[in-house]
Amino acid sequence: MTQSSSAIAPLNFALPSYLSAIQFGGLHLAIIMDGNGRWAIARGLPRSAGHAAGVRALKRIVDAAPSLGIGILTVYAFSSDNWRRPADEVGNLMRLLRSYLQRDVAQLAQHGVRLEVIGRRDRLPAGLAEAVGRAENETRDGRRLLLRVALDYSGRDQILNAATQCGPAPTREDMSRALAGASCATDVDLLIRTGGEKRLSDFLLWEAAYAELYFTERLWPDFDACDLATAIGDYHSRERRFGGVMSDPTGSRSDLIEAHSA
Ligand code: FPP
Repeated sequence: MTQSSSAIAPLNFALPSYLSAIQFGGLHLAIIMDGNGRWAIARGLPRSAGHAAGVRALKRIVDAAPSLGIGILTVYAFSSDNWRRPADEVGNLMRLLRSYLQRDVAQLAQHGVRLEVIGRRDRLPAGLAEAVGRAENETRDGRRLLLRVALDYSGRDQILNAATQCGPAPTREDMSRALAGASCATDVDLLIRTGGEKRLSDFLLWEAAYAELYFTERLWPDFDACDLATAIGDYHSRERRFGGVMSDPTGSRSDLIEAHSA
């Protein structure tokens, strides 16, 4: 969905998630970008070169996503468990993130991409949380694509935080809203993991409850728009039943629930 950024005021309050789906019309794609290290080692390069190539791959996918029907793209850039990596690798990843936030934000804004960082900010190196805030602010009018970067992120911790925020006996709706953050992101439709591993690694555990999973051997730095188109084609060939038995033309889980409670 393309809209002029000047036509719509920035949203800085919580909207119901169905409005977010309209605002960023299209699928919610999540990607576990795995394989940077192996890509570099196969070329006799340091792992840092693999991560730099990973950033280039991310830029290609951000460019291609809107025309392939993606409205929300959530990428796993740094998990809370990644702090266990050697200090020089962590430092390198943080520098890449900072440079992306500083150098690429103007272009993201120009292309109608709104950037949001999910995860903890209190453990980031000095100045990085501020750079995140500035980048989010500069891109807040973007309506073509919502790019969510998971940084110092743990799905389990996010669920614990949301439950604490909601108070006693939260409903599923309360939890989904708390997890959706300021941008009101919707549930994940398709989750891609590159690099051959077949696990979720603590990524979007709640939001991906009914996501279609797509695993590919392709290493992340090699992943391109053709690979993305193939994954999306595969997604469209699947029937999403959300636990039901019949084809549901609306693709809506809440419709199934309403049909049952009527
Ligand atoms: C996993 O590959 C990848 C990561 C832990 C980092 C992913 C980060 C990027 C692609 C850069 C993102 C940057 C921005 C600006 C959002 P791995 O190193 O574990 O690969 P391996 O399994 O082959 O060792």
